[in-house]
Amino acid sequence: MASDGKPQTQSKFRRLWKRLSESLRVQLLLWIVLPLIGVICVNLVISFQSAEATADLVSDQLLLASARVIAEAVTVDTNGTVAVDIPPAALEMFDIGHGDRVFYRVLTAWGTLVSGFDNLPEPKKEQVGEDAVFRDSPVRVLTLNHPVIGLARDAEVSVSVAVTLNGERAMRQRLWLSDFTKQVLLVLVAGFVAIVGLQRGLTPVLRLRDAVREQGRERLDPFSPETVQTELRPLVHALNDYMERVQSQMAAQRRFVSNAAHQLRTPLTLVATQASFAAREQDNDRRNEALQALRSSTKQLARLASQLLTLSRAEPGSRRPRRDRVDMTAATRQVLDTYAETALRRQIDLGFEASEPAFVEGDGPMLSEMIVNLIDNALRYTPVGGTVTVSVSKGDEWVQLRVEDNGPGIPDDERAKVFERFYRIMDVQPEGSGLGLAIVKEVVDGADGTVSLGTSPSGGLTVDIKLPTIKQDRSEPVLS
Ligand SMILES: Nc1ncnc2c1ncn2[C@@H]1O[C@H](COP(=O)(O)OP(=O)(O)OP(=O)(O)O)[C@@H](O)[C@H]1O
Ligand SMILES: [Mg+2]
Repeated sequence: MASDGKPQTQSKFRRLWKRLSESLRVQLLLWIVLPLIGVICVNLVISFQSAEATADLVSDQLLLASARVIAEAVTVDTNGTVAVDIPPAALEMFDIGHGDRVFYRVLTAWGTLVSGFDNLPEPKKEQVGEDAVFRDSPVRVLTLNHPVIGLARDAEVSVSVAVTLNGERAMRQRLWLSDFTKQVLLVLVAGFVAIVGLQRGLTPVLRLRDAVREQGRERLDPFSPETVQTELRPLVHALNDYMERVQSQMAAQRRFVSNAAHQLRTPLTLVATQASFAAREQDNDRRNEALQALRSSTKQLARLASQLLTLSRAEPGSRRPRRDRVDMTAATRQVLDTYAETALRRQIDLGFEASEPAFVEGDGPMLSEMIVNLIDNALRYTPVGGTVTVSVSKGDEWVQLRVEDNGPGIPDDERAKVFERFYRIMDVQPEGSGLGLAIVKEVVDGADGTVSLGTSPSGGLTVDIKLPTIKQDRSEPVLS
């Protein structure tokens, strides 16, 4: 019912306008042609006025000439009677093919009508034409006072001539039309020149586009900035920088895939060997032993696969960035709950220190994965009976998560390397994929935070994570 065509037309118009305004050609054309049209409109008004003035001037000259011819035909006889015999030329000079009617009046200085129409309008000034209305038609009228031989010295006759405006209008139109045609031609020529200029100006951009298209799927060669105009060179430099970044990312991706394949191949070969060994084994105990080993290898493989998946999710650009409000205290407590059993089994004293909610902004699930990996490491590398303390504290700028243990720690010269993918310190523990700290680093980078490794007071490892804090939202209930 409410679907009248108006909003649809409006949105169509808006879409069309958006498309047009996105075109460089249309924009430049508008910037050139619109001001030109504006100037020409003003010009046309001026030229209309000047055509009118010219036509008036020509009319007035004709009227004056006609009045003069009539005045010169005025005679005075010996009785002092004033008479006039209107020469046909005085009226025929208006006969220029527009069917104009001419009216005249000859008056003596004392106001006696000699000839013509007594009620012809009287212009305010002598010898200056004026627009008036006579017999319901617009006319141009002019009066000339002219001395007559035979009359007293200061006596003159007053000759008024009026003509309808057909001829004047036609002249005015002709003058204006010729101006108008010239100006429209000017706009068309300017528009054409602008289009040709634009086409020429855009050629290097189009050539650059073709060059980008022509590069094969594998090639990302830089373009030479010299082939384009100086204004476009920054674009080419930016394009080259971008391609360099893409190339280095592609190389890193290739390295990662081949590393991952390599890491998967060794345990898979082991699994296959263990499986065929168990299948061949007749002795029950030894078969069980082989099956146990097989189970632990598959568990390791599953762990490696899940770590690979987490790492790929933590990488920038792999999924839409999330901006969750995450309370690090609650998130850490949740992870610690799931590790309580592991700690108990390994008789590790797992402590937690936090007093208040500490909000940060970031990807909630990924931040949890980060905490999981830190606690997993601390519990795994701390010997049985050890101590692991996790704390969350909140400052003005940062929320700090600290995981401290009394295990073997990480030597100084290894601290940078352990964040690399698949890097492990082999003599510490045989299990593990070497991806945990790489995941931690990716998550921390994604949340604009920092991670640092240190030595705990008991000689073990301290991992400090700092993430930018966000203030408590007014709409959020304040947790105590
Ligand atoms: N708390 C810790 N104490 C001592 N060494 C540690 C600790 N955390 C990590 N490491 C060392 O750093 C190395 C890299 O750790 P990372 O978590 O990246 O991999 P991982 O634990 O071997 O494998 P996973 O991907 O299964 O976590 C480990 O091999 C270990 O030697
Ligand atoms: Mg680990």
